[in-house]
Amino acid sequence: MFENKVVWITGASSGIGEAVAYEMAKAGAVLILSARREDVLAHVSAQCARFGVSESNIKLLPFDITDEAVFADITTAAHSFKGRIDMLFNNAGISQRSLCVDTDMATYRRLFEVDVFGQIALTKQVLPHMLEQGAGHIAVTASVAGKIGVAERTGYCAAKHAVMGFFDALRSEVNRQGIHVTTITPGFIRTAISENALKGDGEKFGKMDKNISGGMDVTACAEAIMKGFKRGKKEIAVGTGKEMQGLWVKRFFPNLLFKITGNLAPTVTES
Ligand SMILES: NC(=O)c1ccc[n+]([C@@H]2O[C@H](COP(=O)([O-])OP(=O)(O)OC[C@H]3O[C@@H](n4cnc5c(N)ncnc54)[C@H](OP(=O)(O)O)[C@@H]3O)[C@@H](O)[C@H]2O)c1
Repeated sequence: MFENKVVWITGASSGIGEAVAYEMAKAGAVLILSARREDVLAHVSAQCARFGVSESNIKLLPFDITDEAVFADITTAAHSFKGRIDMLFNNAGISQRSLCVDTDMATYRRLFEVDVFGQIALTKQVLPHMLEQGAGHIAVTASVAGKIGVAERTGYCAAKHAVMGFFDALRSEVNRQGIHVTTITPGFIRTAISENALKGDGEKFGKMDKNISGGMDVTACAEAIMKGFKRGKKEIAVGTGKEMQGLWVKRFFPNLLFKITGNLAPTVTES
């Protein structure tokens, strides 16, 4: 299904994006890998080559997802690599570890710049190419936090709820034009997400918390995401912990969910 398809992955230097890059490499995709750290992307690229992708079928496009000024040029470079973009996987993101009362507005704005406006702005650049092609696949890594509000994630949950709303609405617009939109709602996945998460003052949290260290293996997560892509799923829920049951509880028993999240609050970032 992904053989020779041009797949552009953001957040490809680490965690879920990196692991999906390896699965895409195994599936024979042509890869465009983005994140800020070019040296780390080069390492990921070398690993992809080990899975059989030739050097001419991997392009590194490092950029900051908050630097909207470069998006037009970056997208032109991505498109002219092979003359098309079959899939955009909007995956770059950062989380939060702070109570609302301790969180600066600048930190909320940073979370929205990275997690929401970056995804929207890049999608807006790529969408016209896909509309012209009459085909394409846009995926985004949202989160269980895009469905459920939990303590110490007011900004992150708000951002991921916004992402869910944007891409659900986009799907309804492009559904009949050959463009498939997938939202992904991972639970706790063992990556560097909590280390890179922002504290209230915008500094890095800097450690792996309990939920993340006990989370799903990132390769297993990437395999589940690939399975969902191959099945043409519009929404992919992936995770192994109790948070996944939360999706179901929120849907059918919202008051029970609010009770549970309220009681869990003080222990959320215990490590
Ligand atoms: N791990 C989880 O439990 C979990 C659960 C639900 C959803 N998610 C979502 O999954 C996605 C990937 O996270 P992860 O768990 O794989 O965390 P991660 O290991 O910290 O990876 C985050 C990726 O985003 C990139 N990134 C961060 N800020 C960026 C910026 N300003 N510009 C460009 N790229 C940037 C990072 O690359 P550079 O630092 O090189 O720029 C890195 O490749 C995120 O959207 C996250 O919200 C994760």
